[in-house]
Amino acid sequence: MFQWKLWGTDMDSFDIVDKVFENATKGNRLIKNSDVLKLDYIPNKILYRDIQTEKIASVLSPVLNMIKPSNLFIYGKTGTGKTMVTKFVMKALEGKKNNDKIIISYINSRTSGTIYRVLSDIALSLKIKVPFTGLSVSEVQKRIFSYLKENEIRLLLVLDEVDFLVNSPLKKDAGNDLLYELTRYGSYADSNSFISIIGISNDIKFKDYLESRVYSSLHDEEVFFTPYSVEELKDILKERANIAFIDNAITDDVINLIAARSGGEHGDARRAVDLLRVAAELAERENAKKIEIRHVQEASKNMEQDKVSEAISSLPIQEKLVLLTIVSLQDTENTGHIYIKYIKICENLGIQPLTQRRVSAIINELDMLGLISAPVINRGRYGRSKKISLALDKSTVIKTIKEDETLKSLNL
Ligand SMILES: Nc1ncnc2c1ncn2[C@@H]1O[C@H](COP(=O)(O)OP(=O)(O)OP(=O)(O)O)[C@@H](O)[C@H]1O
Ligand SMILES: [Mg+2]
Repeated sequence: MFQWKLWGTDMDSFDIVDKVFENATKGNRLIKNSDVLKLDYIPNKILYRDIQTEKIASVLSPVLNMIKPSNLFIYGKTGTGKTMVTKFVMKALEGKKNNDKIIISYINSRTSGTIYRVLSDIALSLKIKVPFTGLSVSEVQKRIFSYLKENEIRLLLVLDEVDFLVNSPLKKDAGNDLLYELTRYGSYADSNSFISIIGISNDIKFKDYLESRVYSSLHDEEVFFTPYSVEELKDILKERANIAFIDNAITDDVINLIAARSGGEHGDARRAVDLLRVAAELAERENAKKIEIRHVQEASKNMEQDKVSEAISSLPIQEKLVLLTIVSLQDTENTGHIYIKYIKICENLGIQPLTQRRVSAIINELDMLGLISAPVINRGRYGRSKKISLALDKSTVIKTIKEDETLKSLNL
């Protein structure tokens, strides 16, 4: 009997999986080229970035005559095409240079993670062998410089997301030192070898992190990437949809909605392309003939939830506890009420509570992150207080918070 039941369940699961696979192979494929929707895809036709493309190419072009290009700083908000355009120009230069003394290296400072890794990645791109750990930063730096000098290498070094080298108090000095040494290399090495730095950042505070001597040499030349307008995003999306989908898979209405949703805050082409991809995948999964408005709405909701979940799960435990307290209260509350409830929850979990002052500071942080809304209300002669409420969907918050080991036992 038990055996039979197990067998029966297996058959059901088999049917489910089979149906999914069947849909995937035989179903109505809307996407004919999924690579085109990936975030690292570099289109052959880049729209609305002619000025930036030309400026970057012209600053770097002296390298083709073995002359040191000025250092270049590229900035602009997220999703404005900085990485894409830079990689496009790099690829074109790579095809033109015809000289192995010219090397173009691309390093993403955030993915490299540490100053040591940035240096060892630079070494790797030059095919210099360095161990993953064990050497000092200055030793790796010395090896890179002597390799460049001995081999008369002209290095174009792209440091993408360069703010990650200096944007925390822990890294700030070492990051500034590294950038300083890299910019200085050209001035003491002879002219047969140099490094030109192409720094990229979307952080407007980047300047504040830099020592002035580093700032001025990194900014020999600058290129700014403007946010896209909704109209521009529409054209970018149409271009992408043309090569990604089969004919008639999407209408202008749907494209317009995606553009409007992605251009709202600042024209972010990454969000636009992402939304296009997620909506198309949803439509395919349900075997729809077309990508419809409702697919975009659902995709947008899913993406929003993913973003919120990510923000919440990376909060420290006390921040999660305060957020949890706010979730567990029915209505809008002031700091005093929240603190009383917070103490109870801490007692329940056997966690040492923070002072009311610290909790107040956490409430401000959560407000700044957009997770709660906490405007100051003027109560006339009773003074001023905060009206605190959750700015998000309650169930998403609870679900994410309960993923935390310490908090999952809580009854909400
Ligand atoms: N003009 C454009 N034409 C076509 N696609 C574009 C254009 N601009 C950006 N994209 C697309 O948008 C996405 C984001 O672009 P990119 O990675 O270059 O942004 P970014 O400015 O480097 O952002 P971040 O500061 O977050 O790194 C890419 O997938 C790219 O394909
Ligand atoms: Mg980028």
